[in-house]
Amino acid sequence: MSNSQKKAQVGVIGLAVMGSNLARNFAHHGHTVAVFNRTTSKTEAFIQEHGTEGEFIPATTMADFVAALERPRRAIIMVQAGAGTDAVISQLADLMEPGDIIVDGGNALYTDTIRREKEISARGLHFVGAGISGGEEGALNGPSIMPGGTVESYESLGPLLESIAAVVDGTPCCTHIGPDGAGHFVKMVHNGIEYADMQVIGEAYHLLRYAAGLEPQEISEIFREWNQGDLDSYLIGITAEVLAQVDAKTGKPLIDVIVDAAGQKGTGRWTVKDALDLGIPTTGIGEAVFARALSGARTQRAAAKGNLPAGELNNLEKLNISRADFVEDVRRALYASKLVAYAQGFDEIIAGSKKYEWNVDPRDLATIWRGGCIIRAHFLNRIVEAYNDNPEVESLLLAPYFTKEMGDSIDSWRRVVVAATQLGLPIPVFASSLSYYDSLRAARLPAALIQGQRDFFGAHTYERIDLPGHFHTLWSGDRTEVEA
Ligand code: ATR
Repeated sequence: MSNSQKKAQVGVIGLAVMGSNLARNFAHHGHTVAVFNRTTSKTEAFIQEHGTEGEFIPATTMADFVAALERPRRAIIMVQAGAGTDAVISQLADLMEPGDIIVDGGNALYTDTIRREKEISARGLHFVGAGISGGEEGALNGPSIMPGGTVESYESLGPLLESIAAVVDGTPCCTHIGPDGAGHFVKMVHNGIEYADMQVIGEAYHLLRYAAGLEPQEISEIFREWNQGDLDSYLIGITAEVLAQVDAKTGKPLIDVIVDAAGQKGTGRWTVKDALDLGIPTTGIGEAVFARALSGARTQRAAAKGNLPAGELNNLEKLNISRADFVEDVRRALYASKLVAYAQGFDEIIAGSKKYEWNVDPRDLATIWRGGCIIRAHFLNRIVEAYNDNPEVESLLLAPYFTKEMGDSIDSWRRVVVAATQLGLPIPVFASSLSYYDSLRAARLPAALIQGQRDFFGAHTYERIDLPGHFHTLWSGDRTEVEA
């Protein structure tokens, strides 16, 4: 129902799927919601379809939209990231008054959010970059929300956002993350972790299908079973659903008629670029992003298919591995690789928070990611416990629960990596995560040799294990060592 007398507690700009669902979610929770879309016909269509679900105030101009909001005004922008966002922010800022709050709920790059926050706060307004996860369904029924911005803006905005967020054990999946770009930064890493999580599930499926020779329907059952244990999560649940789906057109499993080229919108890539800048080895996320890129290199793959030698391949029987044992090994390899990816993602969040002085509490993230978002999972409670036990833990893998899981999984994980290699099946995240793990726990790394090489060709110097200082060997001279 539209109502022109009443003021709205919140406004949503941009009525594509995410914006519409978010506006409806607010209305379902008893808030009056002003709605506006650049193309008015979309606003009309929205009211036509959903106007009876709650109190909406449709606006045909930005000025009407702003006038419809109670003060301090709270406007959430849900338009295409990039130029669209900048255009809307500038129009809004011209119409708003000091103390009003502009929220960008899209997937903005956090450095853009930092820039925008500076510009907008200089005009006396609040700018909040809020990561919103959960896809269409989450936006409608309860997303996980990661707002950045000032503490003051959260005082006004927080209760409103918390009222529409998912709730787990009585706690809303929304909390103030930290200043300026903090919210969008953690949303970015959340998406990166999501890439890795999806890829390890993909690798497990691929092995069960092409190493163990199981049918999609059988694998669906296995995932359903796995979803009862440590792996209990949204992504494992939907995997079981996708694998059980039969294509109506052909009668084949749907998975077999879907083109095996994965799309991406960019947040995974951003996570990796940033990890490179921060010097944090998020190898799981990196391999997952590259795996999508490789899957999409369709002409290159077509040229290589059948034309690159595979060498002598094995099968499970020749490797003397029973199917039942292999399934359990794959489950453990999946869990271990997943834990590595999360540990790396949290390393990146901690490093980003330090760099920008955001003071992000990693426990908050593990808490608000338990519901609403795509990576929601039971085991996130373990991350909260790990940081509760020791906020300074050097790596999540060193927290007691994680270390124990690694110990319980390591033999299976190694067997799976060996078997996949001998079968010629790609497992970029399983294998690279194992290498990361072995690197992390290694007594010595070949980095000593790299330092020697760097000193040889570039006089970059090296440190010694037995003496303080930096040293250089006179490689082109008499090869004695000098202190640098
Ligand atoms: P989705 O992926 O959910 O479909 P999107 O592409 O991220 O959505 O965003 C689409 C929304 O951004 C639409 O509401 C669109 O408005 P129109 O319906 O008028 O196209 C809005 N949008 C994109 N660019 C915009 C701009 N420069 N100014 C205002 N709104 C813009």
